[in-house]
Formats: sequence, structure tokens, C-alpha cells
Amino acid sequence: MSLLLSPASIGSLSLKNRIVMPPMCLYSATHEGHATPFHTLHYGARALGETGLIIVEATGVEPRGRISDKDLGLWNDAHIASHKSLTDTCHFFGAAIGVQLAHAGRKCECADETPIAPSALAFSDAAPYKTPKAMSLEEIATVTDAFVQSALRAQKAGYDVVEIHGAHGYLLCEFLSPLSNQREDQYGGNLENRCRFLLEVVTSIKKAITLPVIVRLSAHEWMKEGWQREDTLILAKALEKAGVDALHISSGGNQAAPDNRPRLVPLYQVGEAKAIKNKVGIPVIAVGQISTPIEAEALLIGETCDFVAFGRELLRNPHLGIEAAKLFKEPTKIPAPYARAYL
Ligand SMILES: Cc1cc2nc3c(=O)[nH]c(=O)nc-3n(C[C@H](O)[C@H](O)[C@H](O)COP(=O)(O)O)c2cc1C
Repeated sequence: MSLLLSPASIGSLSLKNRIVMPPMCLYSATHEGHATPFHTLHYGARALGETGLIIVEATGVEPRGRISDKDLGLWNDAHIASHKSLTDTCHFFGAAIGVQLAHAGRKCECADETPIAPSALAFSDAAPYKTPKAMSLEEIATVTDAFVQSALRAQKAGYDVVEIHGAHGYLLCEFLSPLSNQREDQYGGNLENRCRFLLEVVTSIKKAITLPVIVRLSAHEWMKEGWQREDTLILAKALEKAGVDALHISSGGNQAAPDNRPRLVPLYQVGEAKAIKNKVGIPVIAVGQISTPIEAEALLIGETCDFVAFGRELLRNPHLGIEAAKLFKEPTKIPAPYARAYL
């Protein structure tokens, strides 16, 4: 049996294989943030295709927390029913399903909302971005509670796991970076202070729900003066200590014009996952231009990560898991060029 197709766990959640669908917005929710039959068909098809864990797209914990007004929400009990149709369908087809709880912060593109952020610094001068309002301490507490209430609704909707969006320059990530966080209170300044909001959200969610919790991080913001891999290694240890069950390692998204971004070649950011896996004892999910089961198998054999997320590849091919099973019917042999390049 290949490693990719062998069972593994995230906290108390047993997964039938190590194929993960990472969150990807469909921009198809109703204006009020409800899932539609298209969401059910889309996620259901990936469950039918033998994906082990499906993580539903960024879902707003409050209206100004949505990236666009076509994204899902869980800020209201009325949202639970349409999410339940996603979880029921994916469970019917044998997949586990989680939801990514998100707050867009200064990257909120909703015309009717005023974005909030650690500091009043716009993501970009260009539309649709607006200059955000710097959050008060009361607003930080309100958003923490919004994350907790949304996590409780996710549990009621039948999700198996909750992912907290701490990546790609959205609110929690904005607090981490010294470039977007220029606060002078206990939530800004040194690394410990910049990590405080995310850690408080995680700790509060862990207290409130029984589901495992994944945190998605941008290991690097690809700015010479910004958030670096070394910072992520320290944060990863703190998240593990706070009870996080897995880390999902992405990169970038914080800056409109990163000055130090690597070429976006296949597997370009798996080294970030590997560096973090070497530091923590909890499972690590790698993502980023991983397109074939062979590449994924090589990453698992090389202990680069514990799970492999296929994003655009699963948009293209919902049946990736079924095809991997056919491919790996014979004892797994990784072609030598892959082994040399990626192990
Ligand atoms: C259409 C689209 C929507 C996305 N939406 C989200 C999202 O909601 N949350 C998130 O953390 N990442 C989001 N991403 C990033 C993906 O989860 C993933 O990290 C990225 O596509 C790289 O993986 P890939 O090369 O396998 O596609 C999105 C990517 C795409 C292509």
C-alpha cells in the first residue's frame, strides 16, 4: 500500500488516506453567505473521488470577515443548514470534511463593509481594497468570540475538523507581520505580542469544541523585512503547545508586491512544510503546485509532510484519489528522477 493511500489521523479524527483538498473559494455563495446546491455537488464530487479530507473554502466568521460577498458564512445559526448538506453529502461518499474559518481583515472586498485590521494600513491603493479601521481591544475580543461561535456552529453542522485561516494576509496573519501590524499595545511590537491574537483564537476555540483544529499559516511572506520562516518555527511550537492538531503550511499573500518571492515552480513551497515538520510533533500538511500522486508519495516517503493537499489539481480532476488507487495497485515504485529531486 502506498503511503498516500494509507490511513492517518489528525488529533482524534481518523482519515482513510492522506489526500487533502485545501480550501478554495468557489465565489458561489448566496449574498447572505449560504452554501448552494453547486457547493454540495462540487464538494460531493471530490468526496466521491476518494479525497480523504475536504476542507471547505474560507468561511466568514462575521459579515466584514468575508473576503467577497460571494463567500460562505457561519456567523449566524441560519447558516448551519446549508453547511449540513455539505457534511452529509461528503460523509455519504466516505470523506471527512472540515471548514476553514476566516476573517478577511484588510483584504475584505465587500462593497458594503468597512474592513478592520491591526493597523490602518491598506493592502493596496487599488480598488477594491479600502483603508481599514485599526481594531480596538474590544473589537479584538469580539472577533475572537466570532471565531468561537462559528466553530461551535461548524460542529453543529457536522464538520469533522475546523481549520483556522492564519495565512495569506487575512486578519490573523496581518497581526503576525511587522509590516501590517504597527500596534503599540499588547497585540503589536515583538513576536510574542504579534502572535497573541491567533493564539487566543486557537485557545478559545479549543476550549469550546471537541473537534480537532488545524491552523493554516503562511510560513513566509516573501518580503526581506517581513514575517520569516524562523518566526513560523517559533509560532508552530507555540500552536502545538496550545493544542493545535495539525499545521497546514502555505506561504505568501500578505503583500500586494512581495519583493522576495521564489519562482512558482512545482513543489516550490514544500521546503517550508519540511522545516516545520522537523520542529513539531503534530502532523503537517504540505500544499503548493503538487500535481501528481507520485510527487505526493515521494514527499511522504521523504518525510517532508504527513498529508498532501492538491488544490487546483482537485479542481481539474475530482477523481484524483480513485486514479491514485489504480496507479498504486502495484507495489509503489517512485521513478528515480522524482526520488532524486524531492526526497
Ligand atoms: C480558486 C482558488 C481559491 C482559493 N481559496 C482559498 C481559500 O479560501 N482559503 C485558503 O486558505 N486558500 C485558498 N486558495 C489557495 C489554495 O488553498 C492553495 O493553497 C493554492 O491553490 C496552492 O495549491 P495548488 O498549487 O495545489 O493549487 C485558493 C486557491 C484557488 C486557486
